[in-house]
Amino acid sequence: MKIPDTRFKEIIDLLPVYLSIQDQNLTILFANQTFKNDFGDGVGKRCYEVYKSADKKCPNCPVYKTFQDNKIHLSEETIWTLDGKESQMIVYSAPITNKENKIESVMELAVNITKVKAIQKELSSIGQSMAFMSHGIKNILEALQGGSYIIDEGLHDNDLHLVRQGWDVVRNNLLDISVITQNVLYSSKKRTLRFEKVTPGEVLEVAVKFFHHKAASLNIKLTHDFNPKLPAVMVDIFSIRRMFNNLVSNAIEACQKDTAKDSHAITLRADYFNEFQFKFEVEDNGTGMDEHTKKNMFKEFFSTKGTAGTGLGLAVVNQIVKEHHGKLEVESSLGTGSLFRIIFKL
Ligand SMILES: Nc1ncnc2c1ncn2[C@@H]1O[C@H](COP(=O)(O)OP(=O)(O)O)[C@@H](O)[C@H]1O
Ligand SMILES: [Mg+2]
Repeated sequence: MKIPDTRFKEIIDLLPVYLSIQDQNLTILFANQTFKNDFGDGVGKRCYEVYKSADKKCPNCPVYKTFQDNKIHLSEETIWTLDGKESQMIVYSAPITNKENKIESVMELAVNITKVKAIQKELSSIGQSMAFMSHGIKNILEALQGGSYIIDEGLHDNDLHLVRQGWDVVRNNLLDISVITQNVLYSSKKRTLRFEKVTPGEVLEVAVKFFHHKAASLNIKLTHDFNPKLPAVMVDIFSIRRMFNNLVSNAIEACQKDTAKDSHAITLRADYFNEFQFKFEVEDNGTGMDEHTKKNMFKEFFSTKGTAGTGLGLAVVNQIVKEHHGKLEVESSLGTGSLFRIIFKL
């Protein structure tokens, strides 16, 4: 079957890849329609000008290599389309030779693999969070077992004090498991926010209630303080609870770890920041942070707690603050304590 030339041109134009033919100087001699749709009419321009707005060839240029050795080459490149979108490409180059087998030009095919790369990244992030979560949960399960053992002993000896002690351990660890699973769910799934009106004072009350027993059992004074004049604000309450759960559980852990002070306190605050903004604060007098921790604390999987940490908490907090177009400030010094301040518009 013979396909007419015009039909060939149509097929080449429609191919879902960027196809171009280039000369020795990497000047584009021909480009298909898919190419033109995303990069404009690049004919007559250098390949690197069109793909990267660069003024010299890419270090790994496959077309250049093909001109050198007359062979097929492959490379992975990051390029920018006309609308400013960054795209990941697999670039393939093949020689076009004349009758004497001398190379005349090179055909370049670039396939957009941005979506594949994004899926790859998501999968590896899910895998990583699963590994961290399994570690975290394994530790907590061991602690739960320890707690239920103490309860058993207490029940056996009719010792209510021991039963209470065991129950504290069980309850505290159930709380930890719930924070970890919330974080993994939050960081592995995109959620649409549901904004509703809440008063900042109520948000603090719920957070204090949630951690009341745990803090008390560890001898940490957990209190809240809010300006009653603050009006109701629009937030995604589900996310804001996650945010407080992480900030407070970190504060508790920092107090627990601190052996330098006799008494520990955590205060949650809500007040005006200025005329247009209000602030939430979580302050503790726990260990505080060194410079390295301050620099890295918001990175996913960064933790100084070994297998007891997942390193997801502050990454989730950061994401929530961003989703609310808010601002996050941290003041912390080693040995003194930490203050996390979240500023939202009223
Ligand atoms: N209130 C705090 N006081 C001291 N260090 C903190 C506090 N909050 C966070 N950090 C530090 O930031 C790190 C990251 O926190 P996070 O993302 O919640 O992960 P994780 O709690 O699992 O370690 C912690 O390991 C800890 O070193
Ligand atoms: Mg944490």
